[in-house]
Amino acid sequence: MNGTTNRARIVLVTPHVGATPTGNRVTAERWARFLGELGHDARVVAEWGGEACDVLVALHASKSAASVEAFRARHPRGRVVVVLTGTDVYGGMERDPAARATLARADRLVVLQPRALRALPAELRAKARVVRQSAERPPFVEMQAADAFEVAVVGHLRAVKDPMLAARAARRLPSGSRLCLLHAGAALDVAIGAEAREEMQSNLRYRWLGELAHDDARRLIARSRLLVLTSRSEGGANVVSEAIACGVPVLSTRIDGSLGILGESYPGYFEVGDEAALARLLDRCERDARFLDGLRRWCARLAPTFAPEREREARRRLVEELVGGVGVADRRERASAIVVESEPEFIRLADSVARGLERSPKAYECCWFYDEAGSRLFEEICALPEYYLTRAEDEILRAHAAELVARLPRGVALAELGSGSATKTRHLIEPLLARDGCLDYATVDISESALEDSARELLARHPGLAMTTICAEYDDGLALLARSTRAPRLVLWLGSNIGNFHRPDAAAFLSRLRAELAPGDHLLLGADLRKDRARLEAAYDDAAGVTARFNLNLLERIDRELGSDFDAARFDHRAVYEEVEGRIAMWLVNRERRTVRIPLLDRTVELAAGEAVHTEYSYKHSVEELDALARDSGFRVAARWFDRERLFADTLLVVEDA
Ligand code: AVJ
Repeated sequence: MNGTTNRARIVLVTPHVGATPTGNRVTAERWARFLGELGHDARVVAEWGGEACDVLVALHASKSAASVEAFRARHPRGRVVVVLTGTDVYGGMERDPAARATLARADRLVVLQPRALRALPAELRAKARVVRQSAERPPFVEMQAADAFEVAVVGHLRAVKDPMLAARAARRLPSGSRLCLLHAGAALDVAIGAEAREEMQSNLRYRWLGELAHDDARRLIARSRLLVLTSRSEGGANVVSEAIACGVPVLSTRIDGSLGILGESYPGYFEVGDEAALARLLDRCERDARFLDGLRRWCARLAPTFAPEREREARRRLVEELVGGVGVADRRERASAIVVESEPEFIRLADSVARGLERSPKAYECCWFYDEAGSRLFEEICALPEYYLTRAEDEILRAHAAELVARLPRGVALAELGSGSATKTRHLIEPLLARDGCLDYATVDISESALEDSARELLARHPGLAMTTICAEYDDGLALLARSTRAPRLVLWLGSNIGNFHRPDAAAFLSRLRAELAPGDHLLLGADLRKDRARLEAAYDDAAGVTARFNLNLLERIDRELGSDFDAARFDHRAVYEEVEGRIAMWLVNRERRTVRIPLLDRTVELAAGEAVHTEYSYKHSVEELDALARDSGFRVAARWFDRERLFADTLLVVEDA
């Protein structure tokens, strides 16, 4: 970089459809506005006409195919971003060779919600990023009368939106219903326009408002009791984010584009085309205030995800990946952050709880332990006299860091999985820096705040350090971790975090890690060893009751987030060592028989007296099991260190030449 600002010329291509602004046009204008605010020079065109530009952003893969092809032919090194807004993610691609070629040519793809990533073939997924369409509540919102029940339907009249479904559903409501549908959208399909006009003659609960200006449509959504989305397919509907930003709950067809925004277990779905099911939901929303309130609270939890700052950040990161940041050379940045957008934590929690309660025995996933209170309790656990794991590994790293570093080639990079606060990593950072003068350190964690805190602290303390933080789940993080560091590398997977994997899953995970690495790369794996029951059970059921509080905190979190009344005070903590399997199993045991309501999931759960709900497995490994794990996943054991009591092992594995 040359030290001056890096103002990129960006052209956004969006195909026009007459005078009516389509979703794509609106999206393009938002991009232009955001990019302008970032200091770039951005403009919207219907077709690329040869204007100078560094980055071409094409809205819609097949409709912009010609522009992309022409641009690429003229500027082989220009950057191309394709925004996949809808039908081009879902279904359209297989049948359209031009669209497929456009996607193959693009440097980056943008999708509107995380499920669309999973709909892409693997070779496209790696270059795809999620940029959610943000929204804001309009400043002035009219109120509707207290006894009115006005519901918004916002979308142009064309077949893919199934635009008359809500009107037909409204006809089925009981005669006492006060529900009134207000439908905004242009008659892109003239026949459907005629149908809408006719519907108004005979259906008093339906009013077609025609095309509204964007701000008027937003105000309509904001003042409504509900927004209904009847589409057969969406890449991720902007109106859904508008409703969420306004605190207006949504009823939607169960389509991928909405599942990716609202989550699988959201109780406001109906099947595509199912007018009877939509009628039942509308009726329930009108009559059952608790149900409607549950939907509203769910949507309110998602509002921060759609804040404009989030969208701006996501776009800034994307453009920086392609052309570098404006003024980036002046900022002496030694830190870069990658955020792999998945569903917001609230949705992942809700979906995970809903799935876990279907299992037998019922189960929660242990990743939900770590909210703020849970993370603090875990730090407390690490300092308990009974919980030897952290101290043992600390002792190993202190005692053998020099020896370990001596085995690694000069210029080795560090890459860490699940670093948390990265306290143990310091034992390695310091000698590596002392030897090599500088060090690249990439780290994956699910907690953005833990990543930020540890990066800030480490960078302040070590001038030679450069960090890449990757906020992602393990699975997504794996590939990025390898790609963010240059070989030779040392991957760290410490703290017996491997213990949360069932044995075959651990082997599969290590194999995938191995596949991302190069010959000569190392992995330092920290694992807790098999040992006598008394010692293990004490470590997971300490005298001071900290682990019990850690386990019970999960229920407090679920109650707080989902509005349920599991009530931690009515459960007991239990930790049992299962010797044959070689694992600690943690349970929450419910004392008395009862029924628990979970309002946000709109469901109840029966709990029997003495019923145990599973929360965590913590596998222990013998030395032989560790050796087998290494072998099965394609590593060779290069060294192994133990603490003085031989409670814990850190094994150094190496990738051999193919
Ligand atoms: C963070 C998974 C390594 O299994 O020892 C501590 C979590 N659970 N006490 C472990 C935990 C209860 C811990 N790991």
